[in-house]
Amino acid sequence: MENFQFMLLVLLVIFIFCDQIIVHSQVSFEYVRPPPRSIIATPDDHPESHPQQVHVSLVGRDHMRVSWVTDDKDVSPKVEYGKIPGKYEVSVTGEHTSYRYFFYKSGKIHHVKIGPLESDVTYYYRCGGVGKEFSFRTPPLSFPIEFAVADYDVLLLPGDLSYADTQQPLWDTFGRFVEPYASRRPWMVTQGNHEVEAFPVIHTHPFVAYNSRWLMPFEESGSNSNLYYSFDVTGVHVIMLGSYADFDAGSAQYKWLVADLARVNREKTPWLVVLLHAPWYNTNTAHQGEGESMRKAMEHLLYNARVDLVFAGHVHSYERFTRVFDNEPNSCGPVHVTIGDGGNREGLAMMFKKPTPPISLFHEASFGHGRLRVLNQTHAHWSWHRNDDYDSTVGDEIWLESLSSIQQCKETLQDREQPKSSNFEL
Ligand SMILES: [Fe+2]
Repeated sequence: MENFQFMLLVLLVIFIFCDQIIVHSQVSFEYVRPPPRSIIATPDDHPESHPQQVHVSLVGRDHMRVSWVTDDKDVSPKVEYGKIPGKYEVSVTGEHTSYRYFFYKSGKIHHVKIGPLESDVTYYYRCGGVGKEFSFRTPPLSFPIEFAVADYDVLLLPGDLSYADTQQPLWDTFGRFVEPYASRRPWMVTQGNHEVEAFPVIHTHPFVAYNSRWLMPFEESGSNSNLYYSFDVTGVHVIMLGSYADFDAGSAQYKWLVADLARVNREKTPWLVVLLHAPWYNTNTAHQGEGESMRKAMEHLLYNARVDLVFAGHVHSYERFTRVFDNEPNSCGPVHVTIGDGGNREGLAMMFKKPTPPISLFHEASFGHGRLRVLNQTHAHWSWHRNDDYDSTVGDEIWLESLSSIQQCKETLQDREQPKSSNFEL
C-alpha cells in the first residue's frame, strides 16, 4: 500500500456514489431548467466496411474490449494497436455477433479483447483494418484514477442507455453519439428498464440488443450473465448489479454476489462500490418503491461487506442519502446516491415527498453528472454538477472515508448486531 501516497481517485459518473462523511453540503435552491431539446439524431454516413459505434470496456486487470459495428458483414473482427499513432505492433482477432428484432436486423457487432496492456498508457487502434484511427488511455495501476465524462479514466453508467425502447435504429444512433467519448475511455455499464425490450409471446427474450452491443466482463468475474458482473480498477472493486435479473436468495445473481463479495480483498481494493438501476432509497415520487424488493433481498449483503457507495439511476433527478442500513442512519452502511439525471426525453422527476426524511440529505431535479475523486485508500471526494450551468460548478459535495479504514466498522464485519445510529455524521 506504500504506492497509495498522494493518490487521487476521481470517479466521475453520469450517475454515481461515496463513504464516511466528513463534510457535506445541505444547500439546495430552486433551479429553472430550460425547455428540453429535440431528440438527437446521428446520421449513418460511414462506408459500410468502416467501424461505427466504437466503445471500449475493461476486461480484467490489463485487458480491454473494443466493440464496434459495421454494416458490411465481411469485415473481420480484428483490432490492430500500438503505442505510436499509425504503427500497429499487435493484431488480435475476436468474435462477432448480430441479432434480429422483429423487422430490424443489426449490423455486424464486433467484440475484440486486446492485451496485456500497460497501465496509464495511450494506445492507438484501428478496427477491422479500415477507417480512422482511435485512441484510448488505460487506467493507472495505482491511485489516482478518475471516472468522468470529460477528463477521466473510467465511466460508470447505471442505465438507462439508449432509450431505444424497441426502436432498434436508435441503438445505432446512441452508439454513434457516444463514440467520441466511449472509444477513448472504458465505459462500464449496467442495464436499466429501457433496455429490456421484451414482449410476451412475440419476443420473449429480454436484453437482446443490450447484451449483443454492450458486452461487459461478466465471465471474467465468475458471473453467468452480462446483467451482473464486477471488476477491479486502481484500488476500487466495482460491482454492477442487475435490477431486472432475479435477485432473491437462491437466485443466480444472489449466489454470485455472495461469492464475489467473499473474494474482495480490501487490502488490494480498499474501496467497494455498487451500481444498480432502480434505487433502494428514493424520496422522489417517481418510481417510488420500485427498488424495495431488491433492497430487502440484498441490502444485508452489501452492509455486511461494508460497501462504501451505492449508485443508482432510473429516477431523473439527483439525491444523496446519509450512510444508511434498513432505512436507519448507520455509520457502517453505504452512502446511497441516485444520479439518474444524465438526460432523457422524458424530462425531470420534479416531485419529492414532503417532509423530507432525515436520511435524505440533498436532492435537486436537474440534469447533471457526478465525479468521485478517491485520493487514496482512505479518503475520497464526491461532487455533483449541473449540466446546464454555463461554468462548471459544484451543486453538491461531500468528503468520504472508506469503511475499510474505520476500525469500528472493520471490527463488526460479518454477522453481528447491526449498530444503530451511533456516531454517524449527518
Ligand atoms: Fe430507468
